[in-house]
Amino acid sequence: MGLSSLALFIFIFMALFSLTHSSPPMCHGDDSSALLQFKQSFFTPVYDFDKCQFKLASWTLELNKSDCCSWDGVECDDNTGRVIGLDLSSSCLFGSINSSSSLFRLVHLQRLNLAYNSFFSSSIPPQVLSVGANAGLTGYLPNFTWSSPLQTLYLARTSFSGELPASMGNLSFLTWLYIRECNFSGSIPSSLGNLTKLTTLLLSYNSFVGNIPHSLGNLLQLSYLEMSCTQLTGQVPFRLVNLPQLSYLDLSYNLLSGEIKFENVTQLSIIGLNNNQLTGPVTFGPMNLTNLRVLDLAVNKIHGQISNSIFNLKNLQVLYLFKNYFNGTLEFDEFLKLKHLYELDISGNQLSLLIKETSANATLQKFQLLGFSSCNLSEVPNFIRSQHELKHLNLSNNKIHGQVPEWMWNTSTTSLGVLDLSNNLLAGFSQHPIIFPWTSLQFLDLRSNFLQGSLPVPPVSTLHFYISNNSLTGNIPELFCNLSSLEVLDLANNNLSGSLPRCFDNFGASLSVLDLRRNKFQGSIPKTWIRGSQLKIINFSQNKFQGQLPRLLAECTMLKVLDLSDNQFNDMFPFWLGHLPNLKVLMLRSNKFNGPMETPQTYFYKFPNIRILDISNNDFMGKLPLRLFENWKAKKFEDEHVLTYIHENSDFQTKSSYWFVSTAQAYTYSMVMTNKGNNVFYEKVQEVFTAIDFSSNGFVGEIPESIGNLKGAQLLNLSNNALTGHIPSSLGNLTELEALDLSQNKLSGEIPEQLIQLTFLEFLNVSRNILIGSIPQGRQFDTFENSSFDGNPRLCGRPLTRKCENSNEPPSQASISQESQDSRSLFEFGWKIVAIGYGFGFVVGVIIGRIVIARKHDWLMKTLRIRPLGGKRRRN
Ligand SMILES: *[C@@H]1O[C@H](CO)[C@@H](O)[C@H](O)[C@H]1NC(C)=O
Ligand SMILES: *[C@@H]1O[C@H](CO)[C@@H](O)[C@H](O)[C@H]1NC(C)=O
Ligand SMILES: *[C@@H]1O[C@H](CO)[C@@H](O)[C@H](O)[C@H]1NC(C)=O
Ligand SMILES: *[C@@H]1O[C@H](CO)[C@@H](O)[C@H](O)[C@H]1NC(C)=O
Ligand SMILES: *[C@@H]1O[C@H](CO)[C@@H](O)[C@H](O)[C@H]1NC(C)=O
Ligand SMILES: *[C@@H]1O[C@H](CO)[C@@H](O)[C@H](O)[C@H]1NC(C)=O
Ligand SMILES: *[C@@H]1O[C@H](CO)[C@@H](O)[C@H](O)[C@H]1NC(C)=O
Ligand SMILES: *[C@@H]1O[C@H](CO)[C@@H](O)[C@H](O)[C@H]1NC(C)=O
Ligand SMILES: *[C@@H]1O[C@H](CO)[C@@H](O)[C@H](O)[C@H]1NC(C)=O
Ligand SMILES: *[C@@H]1O[C@H](CO)[C@@H](O)[C@H](O)[C@H]1NC(C)=O
Repeated sequence: MGLSSLALFIFIFMALFSLTHSSPPMCHGDDSSALLQFKQSFFTPVYDFDKCQFKLASWTLELNKSDCCSWDGVECDDNTGRVIGLDLSSSCLFGSINSSSSLFRLVHLQRLNLAYNSFFSSSIPPQVLSVGANAGLTGYLPNFTWSSPLQTLYLARTSFSGELPASMGNLSFLTWLYIRECNFSGSIPSSLGNLTKLTTLLLSYNSFVGNIPHSLGNLLQLSYLEMSCTQLTGQVPFRLVNLPQLSYLDLSYNLLSGEIKFENVTQLSIIGLNNNQLTGPVTFGPMNLTNLRVLDLAVNKIHGQISNSIFNLKNLQVLYLFKNYFNGTLEFDEFLKLKHLYELDISGNQLSLLIKETSANATLQKFQLLGFSSCNLSEVPNFIRSQHELKHLNLSNNKIHGQVPEWMWNTSTTSLGVLDLSNNLLAGFSQHPIIFPWTSLQFLDLRSNFLQGSLPVPPVSTLHFYISNNSLTGNIPELFCNLSSLEVLDLANNNLSGSLPRCFDNFGASLSVLDLRRNKFQGSIPKTWIRGSQLKIINFSQNKFQGQLPRLLAECTMLKVLDLSDNQFNDMFPFWLGHLPNLKVLMLRSNKFNGPMETPQTYFYKFPNIRILDISNNDFMGKLPLRLFENWKAKKFEDEHVLTYIHENSDFQTKSSYWFVSTAQAYTYSMVMTNKGNNVFYEKVQEVFTAIDFSSNGFVGEIPESIGNLKGAQLLNLSNNALTGHIPSSLGNLTELEALDLSQNKLSGEIPEQLIQLTFLEFLNVSRNILIGSIPQGRQFDTFENSSFDGNPRLCGRPLTRKCENSNEPPSQASISQESQDSRSLFEFGWKIVAIGYGFGFVVGVIIGRIVIARKHDWLMKTLRIRPLGGKRRRN
């Protein structure tokens, strides 16, 4: 996060610092021909583009310009006239450099800067250039088989790729090596350890693998080392981190493990080891580490106590230890030994933090960031009373109870940007009326407390306001309409009531998430609400809203989720939402929606991205609206196995002295849906979850064969309608189905054999129809119970007691165990029991029953759709 920004800053500074100055002597013929040949290997983009410095344009043999020492970006030696420096940074070079490039004939070159020749900004009209996705400077480093005087090499942000050649060890004059943000791969050659003049080494943002070579411990002049965001593994060499001149060390975002001892590092001022796999202690020797300002060990696996040696780092200003496995009890006073500390984050460990009353001595220290999440605190630490420069305060996941103390209203009133008090036992605020005082506040999280009373009003600066899962009562105050910057408003699961404020019309131009789920709101949604909206998730479910839907919803082109379940909306089906390109979840269940669902001719667009459609328990009628799904993108379902949930990320930055502290928060959508006969609360909803519920309406007519097009559907519920005709055999094509409910209709005919192809099917209900004939046998059908088939007087065969005449023998044991191989791991268990169970009748039924119950508890796991190792189940 931060270290890299700092590095970038230093990099730019140094890059500017090193800009060349040209000098008068005549240029050497070999050099100018090498340069011209180099120029020819690039094509000149035809457009005029502000950010490019077309340095190569001045490279020409025209009469009075032929001295290559006068060319842009070329630097010659004052005495010999040989080219010693080439600065082609930000020159919009498009082309490729390989090891036979004439560039490498410039044998006196000491400085080479090709940095920033990759992508500029999207203001390049895509790709006008026709150089493919890899526009920019690509290339490989040559084998350096000559002894080169090269001192600085900048390739930052180019598209150079391949491995670093071992022969780089021959560039023995190299002092600065910048190959940040390229596409290099392979391991870091140990020969870099021969570059003993190196002072600065930047290798970040490449795809290096393997260990950090021990030989780098020979780089006694190295003061600036940055190898973050690569994929380095193994231990960090002791000698490397203890190099005598090292002042900046950034190894963050790798896979480094083990422990680290700093012993002799008097120059070190910044250490970034965050986001690795370090397990052991990170300790500091007795030397005076008076220069150390920043220590970031966050997001590792360091366990045990926090090393006492950290408290000797007298000049430490920033200490990040969050998200490790530190445990034990810790006195806050220990940190007060660090008199200059102003950013401290120890969140997300297993620590109990003891803060004494007398820690008021902390008044001497002006903290800007305090992260005490999961620190077993029982009250808001008193010393915070005297903190007036806090920008970021995280006290979430503690046991803070009672009222938020009154003095909070006087702390850090102008500076505080992030306040997180979520997941505590807070009962309310001692201040009334509740208008928060912090004028710079952007993020306020009060979720999951026991807050009572009326809804507090956050400052107008607020971007994200979370206060769900509390016991708030009363209306949404009109003052909310002033919150013009609000992006996320989460009021779910309170006891709020009343109509939306009249001023709501003006509200929410920047809202992307509005969650009012599970309150007692009533009245209709203002017709003119929502103008050119950014809204992505709207959740009004479980309230008492009435009336028609505002037609302006059709302008929310970013809308992903619209959940209106469990209200009293009274309207036709919103076909007019069918053109929304991103709408993925549409929940209308349990309202008073009505009318036919035949798609009117005038609507061409048909919900191109819909995944979850629940219109159950309304008064819809007519034929099943399968035409809605004509654009159902079956193909998309094939490769999506990523376990992500429907959510909205929000990322905002607060500035500290060293970097921008980025606060990433995610709002996650939750919903209620009927699954396998139960109302299920999905705390998170997987992006790939696919479900259709048309149950409990007045649908008539047959289920068309085209239902087999709904590939990828996991839940399909058509129960409690007046559907007639046969069960279509094409249902057997919906191989992802986990639950199929056709109960309480007037379906006739036999249950198609094809349904036994549904190997994920965990729940089947065809009860209370007029089906006839024998129940298909084998596979999943052996796990279903009587209740799946009840109420069809002419249906016969297992599990019903009614025997079929001329019934077939049950399938052999062998065929069952064969089939079980391609069912999911979750299911193999069930299968085995069934296979064993043939001889045992009743007992098996009981066992299966228990498994089914256990699965209900395993809900999360189910919704994750965990697949067996070894990849995809084969279809058959
Ligand atoms: C030299 O270049 C300048 C412009 O850079 C031009 O005005 C002048 O005519 C040129 N002289 C000759 C002899 O070409
Ligand atoms: C290097 O690139 C040049 C063109 O830039 C090409 O003619 C030459 O064949 C390439 N050599 C190798 C070894 O790829
Ligand atoms: C460098 O030399 C090695 C063999 O010594 C060879 O395999 C490799 O291809 C060469 N690399 C380049 C870029 O010429
Ligand atoms: C360094 O250069 C010499 C020639 O000067 C060459 O023989 C040697 O192979 C190079 N070293 C490496 C590691 O490539
Ligand atoms: C360093 O250079 C020496 C010769 O100067 C050579 O023998 C050695 O192999 C090189 N080391 C590495 C790691 O390349
Ligand atoms: C610490 O560094 C100094 C000088 O750089 C050196 O003389 C001394 O031996 C080192 N001590 C240890 C324990 O490495
Ligand atoms: C650390 O510095 C203090 C004074 O600044 C000095 O008295 C002490 O000896 C130093 N300790 C070491 C181990 O160098
Ligand atoms: C801390 O964790 C270590 C294991 O890493 C364990 O041995 C020790 O008992 C724990 N201490 C406390 C106080 O929980
Ligand atoms: C804390 O403050 C008290 C007086 O309020 C003082 O006696 C004590 O020495 C201070 N402690 C430290 C560690 O500064
Ligand atoms: C079902 O799949 C079979 C073969 O995979 C195919 O022939 C048939 O047309 C499909 N039916 C439907 C309705 O998709």
